[in-house]
Amino acid sequence: MSIFVNDEEKLFFIETNDISYVMCVNRLGILETLYFGKKVGRDDLRYICRRGCRGYSASMPDSKDRSEDANQFRAECSTSHYGDYRVPTVMATFEDGSRVVDLRYEGYEINATRPDGGMPTVRDGETLKITLVDKKSLLKVNLYYTVYQDLASVVRSLEIVNEGDETVMLDRAFSFCIDLPNQEYKYLSLNGAHMNERQICVNDVIPGVYTVESSRGTSSPQHNPFIAILGKNATETEGEAFGFNLIYSGSFQISVELNECNLVRVAGGVNSFDFCWELKSGASFVTPECAICYSSNGIGAMSRTFHDLYRDHLINPNFAKKPRPIVINNWEGTYFDFTEEKLCAMIESVKGKGIDTFVLDDGWFGHRDNDYSSLGDWFVYEKKLPNGLKPIAQCCRRNGLKFGLWFEPEMVNRDSVLFETHPEWTIQSPGRPICKGREQYVLDITREDVREYIKKVMTDIIRENDVEYVKWDMNRSLTECWSQTLPSRRQKEFMHRYCLGYYDLLRYFEKEFPNLIIEGCASGGGRFDAGQLAYTPQVWTSDNSDAYHRTKIQYGTSICYPLSAMSCHVSVSPNHQTGRITSFKSRCQIAYFGATGYEFDPTKITEEEMQEIVKRNEEYRRDEEIILTGDLYRINSPFDTNFFTQMVVSKDKSKAIAVSMQVLADANGPFFTARLQGLDADATYKIVESGETFKGSTLMGVGINLPFCSHGDFATAIWHFEKID
Ligand code: DGJ
Repeated sequence: MSIFVNDEEKLFFIETNDISYVMCVNRLGILETLYFGKKVGRDDLRYICRRGCRGYSASMPDSKDRSEDANQFRAECSTSHYGDYRVPTVMATFEDGSRVVDLRYEGYEINATRPDGGMPTVRDGETLKITLVDKKSLLKVNLYYTVYQDLASVVRSLEIVNEGDETVMLDRAFSFCIDLPNQEYKYLSLNGAHMNERQICVNDVIPGVYTVESSRGTSSPQHNPFIAILGKNATETEGEAFGFNLIYSGSFQISVELNECNLVRVAGGVNSFDFCWELKSGASFVTPECAICYSSNGIGAMSRTFHDLYRDHLINPNFAKKPRPIVINNWEGTYFDFTEEKLCAMIESVKGKGIDTFVLDDGWFGHRDNDYSSLGDWFVYEKKLPNGLKPIAQCCRRNGLKFGLWFEPEMVNRDSVLFETHPEWTIQSPGRPICKGREQYVLDITREDVREYIKKVMTDIIRENDVEYVKWDMNRSLTECWSQTLPSRRQKEFMHRYCLGYYDLLRYFEKEFPNLIIEGCASGGGRFDAGQLAYTPQVWTSDNSDAYHRTKIQYGTSICYPLSAMSCHVSVSPNHQTGRITSFKSRCQIAYFGATGYEFDPTKITEEEMQEIVKRNEEYRRDEEIILTGDLYRINSPFDTNFFTQMVVSKDKSKAIAVSMQVLADANGPFFTARLQGLDADATYKIVESGETFKGSTLMGVGINLPFCSHGDFATAIWHFEKID
């Protein structure tokens, strides 16, 4: 039981083992946040809402004096045009053009069922629903809060219901809003670019608004739908961290605003740029969910809460904590240049080496020899593969491997049968030439007929060839968001409908093929978000497979996504994206901490490397439970230091694995140690590699020596720790 309500005083207490989230309904009927953070007593916290009469503001019509000013309220669901000048949560236009939405408390329900609106939602938990209503228009807002007793998290979403007679145009429908009293906060966001995703950026929260957003139709490599508010001196192990992560794969927006009253508002959801949703009488709109995790013990603990929440309550349980395939993917090994013989030689060369899935990447369909043609034509390229896919699938099975296949279902090339037959299925703006991205157009998956086509062609291929693994790629941002099937006044529904279309496809494949594992991909990590993870338990983390760059990308990604979500492959050196030379050992060790695999032509590696792969795969199978289900501790940040060090500890603390990379070697450089975390302080651990034994408290308090003095650039090491008593 995590939800308590004081009906008389209209106070709401959401409590889990470690956090309290307290709200009240104020005198005017506005729902306010009183507190969110480390668990506190179940007291009446209304004393915290200090207000004054402030100049150059506006008070609500029924306010008792000038201090009842919406700009000073700590709104759980902010609106505009009635005195709150900060970031609104819900905005609407009524038939007469007026735009005041005045949401007042109506009631609540415990153990409520949350609608999903066609989107992924967290499972289980206890849900509180609080209903607000705009009495004039009868626009209702249901706010949902889902909690788990053992997690320091609250998952929020909104449902906006039009109970009036008029049609309402929703101009904004965010998923959450919260006002926190500023404590000289900073914010952390995950920004980047293609091949350089989720780089950590930390800045002071200063007066004004900071927004991370995507208007690209996917969550994007440029900005991740995540933001954390950090205490001034927060580190990995100390201080407060409030993380906000949208469970959504489309265009999003999250804003942080510090106002004159020293309140920090965080609010976000579907991007309201180019958004407007027609809500007819009786209709409702459901927002994506936002997972909010709190830690009073630093950023690391916040991350671990996200990881547990997603592994236990979001990612498909058929895969979430189960062993993953060890994949070999032919993309960097062959690109478009392959034949049946070449592919079979690759497959045969890894027989019995511990690799269990071969994934045939781009280039097997239509007449695709480069990225200028054939997307949409999901039939075999006969000139390249005259006997079809079957011999490759059979070759996989003969050699003890599963067969995986690449698709880019949402796309079409101009040079394709599909485009010739159905040019109207392409997203375009009437009468204008169409933008290209990687020479391709985007299919209008807001349309059911387009989705039916995709479902049918993919289903046939998957069935005919017993495909057991699909890599679902998506290689461009959206433009010209317009659909032939929507009336003009509803065209701004397009972006969200695109995302709903994507989820509809994924849901279909999940239901139709419950054992099929789908790896998400969007030019690597261009759609690495929690919405995607609900259906694709692992995502190709980045097109950049360079071992050093991956330390940063994987470190940043782990801020809110578990290691089990990251596909990490060993590729060749010099690296194809950066030209960097790294050792085989370093590449193997950095790609170990995730859903591991390989991305090269295995017929071209040395016998020594192949033996290394065999050994590595055996070790991975022994270690994968810890990697995929354990607690992650980040020790040295490659963003701030010359090292990347992280470790995973099994839930029972009996085993741990640490990895470290020294980025650049120094001549006669200083000596470094790394203090471990997460171990049982009183237990004795053996370091498997050296046979030495130490108390957990020693490993955490004194640390281990980083052995890199003269190992060259990008040197790595792995340590295994086993509790011996
Ligand atoms: C982008 C992906 O991220 C790559 O791994 C590869 O699948 C290519 N697309 C194929 O076109």
